[in-house]
Amino acid sequence: MEIDIGETDSVRSQLLIIPFFEDEKEIREVRDKRIMEFISRILKSGALKGKTFETLFTVTDLSEPKYIMFSGMGKREQITLHDLRKVAGIVSKICMPKGIESYGILLRGIWSKKLSAPAWVEGLLHGAYRYTDFKSEKPDNASQEIKKIFLFNVKENEKKDIKNLCSRSNKILNSVNAYRNVINAPSNYMTPAKLAKVATEMAQKTEIRHKVFGLKEIEELKMGGIIAVSKGSREEPRFVELDYCPKKYKKTVCLVGKGVTFDSGGISIKPWDGMEKMKYDMAGATAVIGAMDIISQIKPAVRVIGLVPVVENLPGGSAYKPGDIIRMYSGKTVEVISTDAEGRLILADALAYGLKFKPSTMIDIATLTGACVIALGHDASGILGNNEKLIRLVKLAGEDTGERVWELPLWKEYEELIKSDHADMKNVGGRDAGTIQGAVFLKRFIGETPWVHIDIAGTAWHDNDKPYAVAGATGWGIRLLTRVVEKLGE
Ligand code: BES
Ligand code: ZN
Ligand code: ZN
Repeated sequence: MEIDIGETDSVRSQLLIIPFFEDEKEIREVRDKRIMEFISRILKSGALKGKTFETLFTVTDLSEPKYIMFSGMGKREQITLHDLRKVAGIVSKICMPKGIESYGILLRGIWSKKLSAPAWVEGLLHGAYRYTDFKSEKPDNASQEIKKIFLFNVKENEKKDIKNLCSRSNKILNSVNAYRNVINAPSNYMTPAKLAKVATEMAQKTEIRHKVFGLKEIEELKMGGIIAVSKGSREEPRFVELDYCPKKYKKTVCLVGKGVTFDSGGISIKPWDGMEKMKYDMAGATAVIGAMDIISQIKPAVRVIGLVPVVENLPGGSAYKPGDIIRMYSGKTVEVISTDAEGRLILADALAYGLKFKPSTMIDIATLTGACVIALGHDASGILGNNEKLIRLVKLAGEDTGERVWELPLWKEYEELIKSDHADMKNVGGRDAGTIQGAVFLKRFIGETPWVHIDIAGTAWHDNDKPYAVAGATGWGIRLLTRVVEKLGE
């Protein structure tokens, strides 16, 4: 997508977008007289109230712009940048099906344009995403992409900075949308081998070093969790190690992402209703791969290790079973209560393996528990960890990116829940505090390393269409992890 930044509205685009706040009487920033007259007529009609997410799409009687879209922004002091991204998403989601390819955006509002301009880019591109890989017929008239945007009302001396920030958001959102395709891809295509290939192909395009372990190497390493979970499937597991290592760095961060290409629950099989969605149980893996992809482009001075265990969880004849006791990579033993609590088993091996890099920070990200969806819904991911400072840093990164997290407690009282009579711990201890149990389990494998666990079960996928985005994979986490790494490098 081409991005142009300028002072006036004289550059041509098919569509002009006018953000409009509640109770406004006029728009002053547009200089073109004919456009101004058109806008005044609309405003005088009183049809536009400026309520948040209100839209008014009009055809002008001008040749350029052919269309004007008024975007309601609500009360000036109440709208957040996060809302602004949604407003932008609504615009592209409405306008793409009309075949519109060039968008002019009037920048106005209380934010610095260095914040609002990239937010527009992010929202527009996020809203423009469609998953069409398996559609035989593309919809008539719909444009496949936004070809050009023009952001105006920017002073000459700010142009360069804003342009850079917008190009960066453009790059990031292209990545996010590409990984949304990987998540949305059905599990008969996106097998563990294929997902590992996505990671290696990404690494080959960058300076990231990579290794992929197959079943034999995973067995040699005695990664008991990964081996156990993969046993019920004919698809062999993979373990991907990515290493972004700049010449100069002080800190090493280890990112670990859950890569279950399909989670049937295994022998503890899930009910059929909604099981098809469990193809997105690898969204933690793509969050890590996607973040590494972007990190390799923006080059922070932090070493970043990405670890991605990839398996398919099926109830085949040689599947692992409730009651089985597994010896994990770390040497600890786990009694399996439910084969559906598979994510923590593969993550635990990856986390324990990650310790060999002596990271100063570990972060794992996973679609780990249905309980997290019940607790927080789809607008916040759960965060739990052993280090207040790190949790705070991730929260702030969430505010910056709009990928927000909410903390749950990880007090020692909860450790009782996963005590086992026969092994060092069990993988599930009943129904209580499901999300906390997952984190309590993982905490056993990270030693004293400052660590956080991010549960994205609710945020990685939206069941329903939203005005600002289509149903399906959201690509959640890529931008958050990138921002966290950046902050750690500051
Ligand atoms: N992949 C699921 C968690 C999940 C549920 C993600 C819904 C997205 C939406 C995970 O492997 C799982 O099955 N967890 C179980 C844990 C239980 C057996 C303790 C769950 O949440 O039901
Ligand atoms: Zn499961
Ligand atoms: Zn799972």
